Amino acid sequence: MNNYKKVEFNVNKNKRTYQDIEKNVTIEGNGKKFAIITYGCQMNEEDSEKLSGMLKRIGYEKTENRDEASIIIFNTCCVRENAENKVFGNLGQLKALKEKKPELIIAICGCMMQQKDMADKILSTFPYIDIVFGTHNSYKFPEYLNRVKQEGVQVKEIINKEEEIVEGIPVDRKSTVKAFVTIMYGCNNFCTYCIVPYVRGRERSREPENIENEIKELVSQGYKEVTLLGQNVNSYGVGLEPKITFADLLRRINEIDGLERVRFMTSHPKDLTEDVIMAIKECDKLCEQIHLPVQSGSSRILKEMNRSYTREQYLELVKKIKKEIPDVGISTDIIIGFPGETEEDFQDTLNLVKEVEYDSAFTFIYSRRKYTPADRMENQVPDEVKHDRFNRLVEAVNEIIGRKNSEYDGKVVEVLVEGTSKNDETKLMGRTRNARLVNFVGNKENIGKLVNVKITKAQSFSLFGEEV
Ligand code: 5AD
Ligand code: SF4
Repeated sequence: MNNYKKVEFNVNKNKRTYQDIEKNVTIEGNGKKFAIITYGCQMNEEDSEKLSGMLKRIGYEKTENRDEASIIIFNTCCVRENAENKVFGNLGQLKALKEKKPELIIAICGCMMQQKDMADKILSTFPYIDIVFGTHNSYKFPEYLNRVKQEGVQVKEIINKEEEIVEGIPVDRKSTVKAFVTIMYGCNNFCTYCIVPYVRGRERSREPENIENEIKELVSQGYKEVTLLGQNVNSYGVGLEPKITFADLLRRINEIDGLERVRFMTSHPKDLTEDVIMAIKECDKLCEQIHLPVQSGSSRILKEMNRSYTREQYLELVKKIKKEIPDVGISTDIIIGFPGETEEDFQDTLNLVKEVEYDSAFTFIYSRRKYTPADRMENQVPDEVKHDRFNRLVEAVNEIIGRKNSEYDGKVVEVLVEGTSKNDETKLMGRTRNARLVNFVGNKENIGKLVNVKITKAQSFSLFGEEV
């Protein structure tokens, strides 16, 4: 096993582009393989697509098989404890592989590394890791790799302050039809349960021209759909000159020729403005879909969570959205078992779920996160109560989603064909404008195109049909 000398980088405060970084990278992959294991949200997925893009550009090839990889990267998430535990388990398993193959390079990055003292804890527990970096400097990964390969050092660089946004990073996207495009980074909201603002830093927006150019480039490569990403897309543009709002950005993107569909996430209910709702209503490419995390249906708990809206305000917003945008798909995130949540608060959540009739919902059991205010609250809910409520919530959500799906039986819907179905290569899959998953019998030549599909069977979480 390598005997490492530890090196920490000096942080370069000057603005750098990816082209500047690339100039310092002299190593070549020559077809050697890398594997990336990604935990967490779409943001992390997109970061991994960039890591992959950078490595491919210097001649490495991607593999899903860790045993044949020369580089293994763990892109971690710290939003909930179970994602963290998986990382620890996986890193432990790599010891044997590294002993068998000392030239193997193991790297770890992502928001877990941005937590106070975590990088040091990881390195002392797993000293055979070669590269540790955080969310603010992932574009420097090829440079770090270069140092490890050329100088035989171990590299650790965690930057706690947001750097300027680096443009021009190559992205190796999973799909050839739809793409994620990050429009802003960070979060200023400090919900009391959430670690994201501590590890992803303050909000900062990309220049609209850079976003437009990236999307135009994607369209020229044949992409038909983009999902604009940010922790809180509705505050896009704050601090940019000339002034621009999220609704302005949406209207500009709607003008891009050749693009068929635009989605975005995540919308904070306190910031989703009327002009964004009207943009969805009026712009043909903006899909009728909104991800609107409610987190809890109890105004008391929402206050404790620092969400800045009440149950009533949320329901009013949903009413307005449904009135202006017929057939809209509304999805949400819900946390069960926040400190102090009573059965009555839980019933408020259950009733809200039934009232809104979500089209999809991500349900989470509250996970204590170090350094967040909720972790210091004394009235933590016992695990068995959390699990019981969680099960009851999931049951209610599933019943609603199944019932709403069944309304599609016999209808004809427009689907953007993304590829073949996950479990059956002979079928195709895609989504409706309001984000329903459809598996169907159709012509493979239509992958990447919009087709009409007649729904013949509604299942609990997807629709089944035939191209017409
Ligand atoms: N425990 C459980 N769920 C959480 N989320 C964020 N922090 C926590 C936590 N500490 C959920 C929220 C958020 C989603 C991305 O993750 O619902 O919207
Ligand atoms: Fe976390 Fe709240 Fe920011 Fe979402 S809005 S990332 S839940 S702090």
